[in-house]
Amino acid sequence: MQIIDLRSDTMTQPTEAMREAMAKAEVGDDVFNEDPSIHQLQDMAAEKLGKEAALFLPSGTMGNLVSLLTHCGRGDEIILGDQSHIFLNEVGGLSALGGIHPHTLPNRDDGTIPLESLESAIRHSDLHYPPTRLICLENTHNYCYGSPLNPLYMDSVAELARKYGLKVHVDGARIFNASIALSIDVRELTRQADSVMFCLSKGLSAPVGSVICGTRDWVQKARKWRKMVGGGMRQAGHLAAAGIVALDTQIDRLAEDHQNAQTLAQGLKQLPGVEIDPKKNQTNILFFKLVHPKVSPEEFLGQMESQGVKLLLMEGGVFRAVLNRMVTQEQTRSALQIAKSVLE
Ligand SMILES: Cc1ncc(COP(=O)(O)O)c(C=O)c1O
Repeated sequence: MQIIDLRSDTMTQPTEAMREAMAKAEVGDDVFNEDPSIHQLQDMAAEKLGKEAALFLPSGTMGNLVSLLTHCGRGDEIILGDQSHIFLNEVGGLSALGGIHPHTLPNRDDGTIPLESLESAIRHSDLHYPPTRLICLENTHNYCYGSPLNPLYMDSVAELARKYGLKVHVDGARIFNASIALSIDVRELTRQADSVMFCLSKGLSAPVGSVICGTRDWVQKARKWRKMVGGGMRQAGHLAAAGIVALDTQIDRLAEDHQNAQTLAQGLKQLPGVEIDPKKNQTNILFFKLVHPKVSPEEFLGQMESQGVKLLLMEGGVFRAVLNRMVTQEQTRSALQIAKSVLE
């Protein structure tokens, strides 16, 4: 039975070119800053995002944590969306390890936070208040339908932050999905940010790794925080080598995942009991709700899985499907056929 795994784009396996590059990579001890493959990846990443420097880390979670630790001290406050991955899914590391106070604001369905809400959440100086230090945005926004945030919004938030002397961090785990969906250079989305994290291990198909980018000084400080949280790796150039191939070969093809997500969304919309608005799905992540008279969400999940289609069931009968390189156009259509047979 063929498996069509739609649970996450983290299911992507390395390409043949990545496996070859990993095997042959020239490496050194990166804690000594002597790994040529890591240097090459970091230089490529910084150049692509229009930043002075970059740092390779094992995961997106560590990339976000190290970024926040570098921007903030204990007792500082950050503003972020209540649907953000940093707030919901990173184990509260910012508070547990950094003593950083999260001030959440409701995300709109498109992943943005209204500028007025941001402005009114910024603390003025008062004995009773933690000082606001940073605004975090997520682009694309995972739990907000994988929405891409546009350059105008990104720039407006940065302008607001500057007005109050704050910094901006972008959790850009899928920032290239955003640039591809909006048909723009990724730098248009990162130009105003003080720091950006992106993942190599999601739609870009590398097996491991994320990168944070910022000024040379900021990255120098981040290097020390990375060491403290145990992210100083040794001959990790073997992993960086896959990341180099990812940046060279995997960005443009994200458009196929977006196309397949749209096909899936349009097809699901026709099925009984499925609530979905395909207009909300602009990238590779889609959410739909099942309210079926005969098939419960749990039964649907089980029946799909027994026929090889894996989905993620969230709370309240809401499913997430994430298109990725391991799922072809033909398999997308097969998944739809299987869903049809279960629900009709
Ligand atoms: C938006 C977002 N940020 C950060 C992360 C964390 O990445 P990692 O799983 O590499 O720690 C994820 C992972 O799914 C994510 O979706």
